[in-house]
Amino acid sequence: MESSNVQMDLASLEKTYDRYSSFYDLIFGAFFSPGRKKAIANLQFDDGASVLEVGVGTGASLNLYPRHVKITGVDISEDMLRLSEKRAQKACRPVDLYTMNAENLEFPDNSFSHVVAMYVVSVSPDPAMIVAEMMRVCRPGGKVVVLNHFSDDDSLIGKFEKALTPLSSKLGFKPYFPLNKFRQECDAIAFEELMKTNLLGYWSILKGTKS
Ligand SMILES: C[S@@+](CC[C@H](N)C(=O)[O-])C[C@H]1O[C@@H](n2cnc3c(N)ncnc32)[C@H](O)[C@@H]1O
Repeated sequence: MESSNVQMDLASLEKTYDRYSSFYDLIFGAFFSPGRKKAIANLQFDDGASVLEVGVGTGASLNLYPRHVKITGVDISEDMLRLSEKRAQKACRPVDLYTMNAENLEFPDNSFSHVVAMYVVSVSPDPAMIVAEMMRVCRPGGKVVVLNHFSDDDSLIGKFEKALTPLSSKLGFKPYFPLNKFRQECDAIAFEELMKTNLLGYWSILKGTKS
């Protein structure tokens, strides 16, 4: 088995993120914010636009969408979702939130104008399945956006991440997550790499169009 395909199961992931929920915003709220802003700023929201955010977490991005956009968020961690709910209420922003596995979305085909996954694909057990589901529920012409860190095999950091692979389940994400392999696995969509973002540009924003 390729080392980036380390097995992570959803039940333990759910527990990990339930645990992370109490300090997630403190550590990853502002730190991941530039990437969220850029990923969303890159989308065009017409009248009547809707967005699905898979792995919406604590809802750190909810206030970044224009107010006319109808937001739906799903996550497997109820504790993370509870924080999303609070955030939406504080902002007086109606958001539909569901406890749901992004690898098996319970929405009909072509339901949303755009579908977004920020810092999620290297967390979930089956990233290709998430992207296939994102594609399925996105309307034709809509954008599928993935924001994530991708490992560079040639760099020292990449080698270090590879060495950390056995700890993936404990960490709640795969430190080693190479872009070329992700692209190959997601053969249903041709992703364009839009830009690098966050600290040292170690995270990338990918965008594809549902045909
Ligand atoms: C690193 S957090 C990112 C949260 C948020 N997108 C952000 O920008 O901060 C990853 C989130 O994805 C969720 N997640 C991971 N795999 C998932 C899956 N298969 N289905 C739904 N949610 C998932 C986790 O519970 C967690 O809330």
